[in-house]
Amino acid sequence: MITIRPETAEDYAAIREVTLLAFGQEKEARLVEDLRHLSDFIPELSLVAVRAEHVIGHILFSPMVIETEKGEVPALSLAPMSVRPECQNEGVGSQLVREGLKRCRSLGHEVVVVVGHPDYYPRFGFSSARAKRLEAPFEVPDEAFLVLELTPGALAGIAGVIKYPPPYNI
Ligand SMILES: CC(C)(COP(=O)(O)OP(=O)(O)OC[C@H]1O[C@@H](n2cnc3c(N)ncnc32)[C@H](O)[C@@H]1OP(=O)(O)O)[C@@H](O)C(=O)NCCC(=O)NCCS
Repeated sequence: MITIRPETAEDYAAIREVTLLAFGQEKEARLVEDLRHLSDFIPELSLVAVRAEHVIGHILFSPMVIETEKGEVPALSLAPMSVRPECQNEGVGSQLVREGLKRCRSLGHEVVVVVGHPDYYPRFGFSSARAKRLEAPFEVPDEAFLVLELTPGALAGIAGVIKYPPPYNI
C-alpha cells in the first residue's frame, strides 16, 4: 500500500537519501534543496511516495517559464524524480507521475516539461516538445525533450525557449 502526499519538513532528509540513492550522485539532491529555497517553490507539488511509513520515492514539479516573442508563459518542470533502487519497477514512479500531474492540473497549471527517458514519459501523455515549437536552452535529443499540455491546446499559438530557474545552472 503506497500513499502519495506532499512533502513536509520532516521528509527533507529522506528525500535527500532517496534522490542520492536513485541517481548515485549528489547533484540532483542538491537541486531539490536549492529549488525548495526559491520564493515560488510549490510545496504541494513536491510529492513523496510512502510505504510502511518510509519515503521510497519523490517527484518535484517546479515553476519555470517559456520565453516567447509575446512575453513569458508559465510552465512547470518535472525534475528530479527518484525511486529507491530496490523499489523500482514496481509502479511507484508511475503513481508519482500520475498523482503529480493530477495535482498540477487541479492547481491550475497547464504545461509540464520534462527532459528524461524517452521510453518512460510518453506513457503519461508526454510528447515531443520541439513538435510543439518549444526549444531547450541546452542541447538535448528530440526524443528526450518532452512536454504535456494539461489543458488541451494550452500551447496553441505559443513558440519559445524554456528558461529554467538558476538552481538548474543552465
Ligand atoms: C525513473 C524512475 C523514477 C522510475 O521509477 P519506477 O518506480 O521504477 O517506475 P515504474 O515502476 O512506474 O516504471 C518502470 C518503467 O520505467 C522504466 N525505466 C526506469 N528507468 C529507466 C531509464 N533509465 N530509461 C528508460 N526507462 C526506464 C523501466 O524500464 C520500466 O519500464 P516498463 O514499464 O516498460 O517495463 C526510477 O527508475 C529512478 O529513480 N531512476 C533513477 C533516477 C532517474 O533516472 N530519474 C528520472 C530522471 S528523468
